[in-house]
Amino acid sequence: MTPQPSPFLAACRGSRPERTPVWFMRQAGRSLPEYRRAREGISMLESCRRPELVTQITLQPVHRYGVDAAILYSDIVLPLQAVGIDLDIVPGVGPVIAEPFRTRGDLDRLPELDAAHVPFITQAVTDLVALLGDVPLIGFAGAPFTLASYLVEGGPSRDLTRTKALLHGDPGLWKSLLDRLSQISGEYLRVQLAAGASAVQLFDSWAGTLEPVDYRDRVLPASAAVLARAAAERPDAPRIHFGVGTGELLGSMGRPAGASVVGVDFRVPLDEAVRRIGPDTAVQGNLDPAVLLAPWPVVRERVLRILRQGAGAHGHVFNLGHGVPPGADPQVLKKIVDLVHDTVPDARE
Ligand code: CP3
Repeated sequence: MTPQPSPFLAACRGSRPERTPVWFMRQAGRSLPEYRRAREGISMLESCRRPELVTQITLQPVHRYGVDAAILYSDIVLPLQAVGIDLDIVPGVGPVIAEPFRTRGDLDRLPELDAAHVPFITQAVTDLVALLGDVPLIGFAGAPFTLASYLVEGGPSRDLTRTKALLHGDPGLWKSLLDRLSQISGEYLRVQLAAGASAVQLFDSWAGTLEPVDYRDRVLPASAAVLARAAAERPDAPRIHFGVGTGELLGSMGRPAGASVVGVDFRVPLDEAVRRIGPDTAVQGNLDPAVLLAPWPVVRERVLRILRQGAGAHGHVFNLGHGVPPGADPQVLKKIVDLVHDTVPDARE
């Protein structure tokens, strides 16, 4: 028997596999009791440095849900810690940086990344690829803008005023910072691909806070450089590009960024997103995570609508429009996977 091609990789590459592939951003994490047990007494970032824990946690949602792809259990700020930035992930808050980035001198605290900084990632990816068999592993990194926002603000922020002050107030330093972060994220993706990851996702979670002109001129080039490094390592590995609230940026996030798939949040209907992104790029998305808490008939109706809206796309990978919230019921996620797999999408309905 010839091995079945992965539906996830097929959809990313623009074909229509027999069933629509599905995975969930943040599928490994707090909504799973087995995750909470595995993490007991171990900090988030410490758990990311232990390959046997990374392997175990990455596999949990694959076993429980039967999703079409695994995503490496890690965090976007991990490579920053690996090069020496003093930071922590505070439960319920997010990443907090001990000394925020404010001046040119701070660039010295942010050296370039090489594979020797993250041997535990190479180990975890290698082990996972052997254990996953036919299920592809998605590697990931934070995009330079989103990483810069944590470094400059010192932690999560609603409006990113300090980040934007740097972008507008010191364009030279801004560019140096984004160039450095693009080296770090690009190399981090390259390491994961070299160890056997089948695809990568670049998370630019907070890019949607930007004016489109600033995104295009001051942010997109750095993200495109990250994706170019991934493409140079493994041209065949799909590159997914995701952000939140990016409706006005979608036209730039596919081809112009060097992405093969654009992750769409729930604020733009998927068929409209396809029009904005263009005909030769696959899409991923886009169920509102809050709908996971709605009665099942509502969830079902929304899932089926997204499948119809995605049927006209170059390729469609079903996902949420952002990460699984901590309060989500794992049984609902399982029912969604089954529904997506059992439905033949038809754009004409
Ligand atoms: O998707 C997955 O299952 C893989 C693992 C993954 C994590 N973080 C694990 C994690 C991925 C892909 C990320 C990416 C990430 N991290 C992003 C981009 C995606 C997005 O949500 O927009 C961002 C912005 C971060 C930064 C970060 N790390 C935040 C905002 C938080 C949540 C803070 C909180 O507690 O509410 C984290 C912590 C984090 N990363 C957890 C997990 C499982 C929770 C840690 C815990 O158990 O306390």
